[in-house]
Amino acid sequence: MKTRITDLFGIEHPIIQGGMHFVGFAELAAAVSNAGGLGIITGLTQKTPELLANEIRRCRAMTDKPFGVNLTFLPVLKAPDYPGYVRAIVDGGVRIVETAGNNPQKWLPGLHEAGVKVIHKCTSVRHSLKAEAIGCDAVSVDGFECGGHPGEDDIPNFILLPRAAEVLKIPFVASGGMADGRSLVAALALGADGMNMGTRFIATKEAPVHEKVKQAIVAASELDTRLVMRSLRNTERVLNNTAVERLLEKERALGANLKFEDIIEEVAGVYPKIMLDGDMDAGAWSCGMVAGLIHDVPTVQELIDRIMHEADTLIRGRLAGMVAI
Ligand SMILES: Cc1cc2nc3c(=O)[nH]c(=O)nc-3n(C[C@H](O)[C@H](O)[C@H](O)COP(=O)(O)O)c2cc1C
Repeated sequence: MKTRITDLFGIEHPIIQGGMHFVGFAELAAAVSNAGGLGIITGLTQKTPELLANEIRRCRAMTDKPFGVNLTFLPVLKAPDYPGYVRAIVDGGVRIVETAGNNPQKWLPGLHEAGVKVIHKCTSVRHSLKAEAIGCDAVSVDGFECGGHPGEDDIPNFILLPRAAEVLKIPFVASGGMADGRSLVAALALGADGMNMGTRFIATKEAPVHEKVKQAIVAASELDTRLVMRSLRNTERVLNNTAVERLLEKERALGANLKFEDIIEEVAGVYPKIMLDGDMDAGAWSCGMVAGLIHDVPTVQELIDRIMHEADTLIRGRLAGMVAI
């Protein structure tokens, strides 16, 4: 399949694995790239730029295909060493960066000068247009269904994607709720040039997370996610568990008075405990509604081959059959 996204990134299939904290290690990124998609290492999971440089080297040793690095610009007072991370990316020869969170404008000239293509993740048409205006090469349009931070507009992909298609000139991928060949064909029909998946890639053999995380996703239905931190305007879609129920109870009790400090136990530093140790009630962790469509733990190659085969069959079979005379 050839789209503006496969052309832009030099990949075989229009499928991207979004950055995921404590999931996007070299093993997963390399597996996705080796299977013809675009794997992405999560920059900030590496505590220092030196560790990120090492992770990039590890990934390069596992694949000779293109892969990217995610840089999430967090709304925090004490910012991580972003200049150091950008240097590690450029010096490491990485040519694709997925940015997310705050506006990446400040970093674009340096990245572009080094020949890096930037895809910015946006949860609204407004932010997508802004990303295009400041010179991003592509955007990942993240609907309300998505695991992680869906923003505050609550617009699902059935509306968001065609709206993005109406106004954007640069290529974009559909993100949030994507799981299979049906998702890919639907995303293309709605105007996207490919799809980005998070949650689906966690439930794969190569994802270097605890087996209990994969099983929790397989066991979950589309009804099992919750939105937390709404009143802090830092909404996150997470899988329900006892920590999330406790967090929501605090949100109900404190209302508009809720501060980040009140929920620190449920949200700060919980990812290594969950992803690496399999301590499933340690806190709130991002998970999409798409969990309801995830019923197995295939290898990444099996997953991507299955998606491409299903998409091909859908287009040439079911859809072509409907318009055939
Ligand atoms: C466990 C988990 C951690 C994530 N961490 C990040 C992150 O650190 N930075 C980021 O930009 N997006 C992060 N995301 C969002 C994904 O990159 C992607 O946009 C999202 O998962 C798409 O929705 P889906 O889960 O329905 O496929 C995370 C998602 C999950 C499920």
